[in-house]
Amino acid sequence: MDEIYLGLMSGTSLDAIDVVAVSFEPTLRLWGTHSLLLPADIREDVLALTQPYDNEIERLGRVDVLLGQLFADCANQLLDKLNLSPSQITAIGSHGQTIRHRPDLDTPFTLQITDPNVIAENTGITVVADFRRRDVAAGGQGAPLVPAFHAAILRDHAINRVVLNLGGMANITLLPADSSLAVYGYDTGPANVLMDAWCQITLKQPFDENGAWAATGRINNTLLAAMLAHPFFAKRPPKSTGREDFHIDWLLEFIDCCHANVLAEDIQATLLALTVQSVVDAVNQTGFSRGELWLCGGGAYNKALWQLLAQKLPHYTLHSTEEIGIAPTWLEACAFAWLAKQTLAGLSGNLPAVTGAIGQRILGGIFQA
Ligand SMILES: Nc1ncnc2c1ncn2[C@@H]1O[C@H](COP(=O)(O)OP(=O)(O)O)[C@@H](O)[C@H]1O
Ligand SMILES: [Mg+2]
Repeated sequence: MDEIYLGLMSGTSLDAIDVVAVSFEPTLRLWGTHSLLLPADIREDVLALTQPYDNEIERLGRVDVLLGQLFADCANQLLDKLNLSPSQITAIGSHGQTIRHRPDLDTPFTLQITDPNVIAENTGITVVADFRRRDVAAGGQGAPLVPAFHAAILRDHAINRVVLNLGGMANITLLPADSSLAVYGYDTGPANVLMDAWCQITLKQPFDENGAWAATGRINNTLLAAMLAHPFFAKRPPKSTGREDFHIDWLLEFIDCCHANVLAEDIQATLLALTVQSVVDAVNQTGFSRGELWLCGGGAYNKALWQLLAQKLPHYTLHSTEEIGIAPTWLEACAFAWLAKQTLAGLSGNLPAVTGAIGQRILGGIFQA
């Protein structure tokens, strides 16, 4: 029988816990998917923990355990849906929830909570977790970790491909057709995080469905240029980012100081353009004269974003990971299931060319069933 793994993920968007059941041999097969919305109070707690103030060890300890319980609930609900028992699952790969990402400090660190002990206890399944910190300990950014998985499932030796993951933040993976060239990738900046925050403040909605609201606005080029002056965009890779760099207060500073009269929908259109322009700049630096751009992450459902990307990258054809049988929502959870498989097999999960680590490393800790 195929070895089935679960991948559990909650990203910077703080929208939901996603879980997939997936097997990789002989070929990739997605058995089922499930998601659990993050309860509003937990979301608030996590958001508070992402900010460099108002820190409490009590809060961290409590949310760590509560998220562990929720991740386990999410996994157990998927097993019920699929009529699978814990003994039929080889392992869970759990990304956990990032609450701080500081790979560039003198003493670099990254912190993902969601107690894997609780997940193992409440599911009866072996858990692999804490994937990022070993890479940071080896001098890397600890992110992005998805490129190795992208390479495993999407590399093609006839055509150059770029995989674009549009979560809270955006990251790209370069998959050159020429097999003598290394797989490469990095975070390009924000994807949905600012658009979501602006939409929440203005429309009281968690996100701009299909980018419909952004599509009614006009890009404000002065504001766009001011935002693109953020030092992260000019930084050379390896690089990774998070809510520390791009958050609502950063946006509100621009609006308060110089753009108070810009229409709300124009700001939304400009935030969408910020995501697109930073991705386009990164894609144009690849040196590929043409290729395929594969979109995944929730932002792949944003039609306005898709259209602007297509317009700005006429030498690329755009694809959704739906075409390989994995809807954009589920790709990252599949990546953490795959990373768990790597770890249990004693194989590395990081790509040093991507993260900047001094070498390949077996990632994560193993918490036995
Ligand atoms: N239909 C949609 N239209 C526009 N944006 C969407 C849609 N569905 C999801 N999204 C965006 O995707 C985000 C979630 O993406 P996800 O890949 O889960 O990110 P993360 O990994 O950061 O949690 C949502 O917050 C929202 O901004
Ligand atoms: Mg999400």
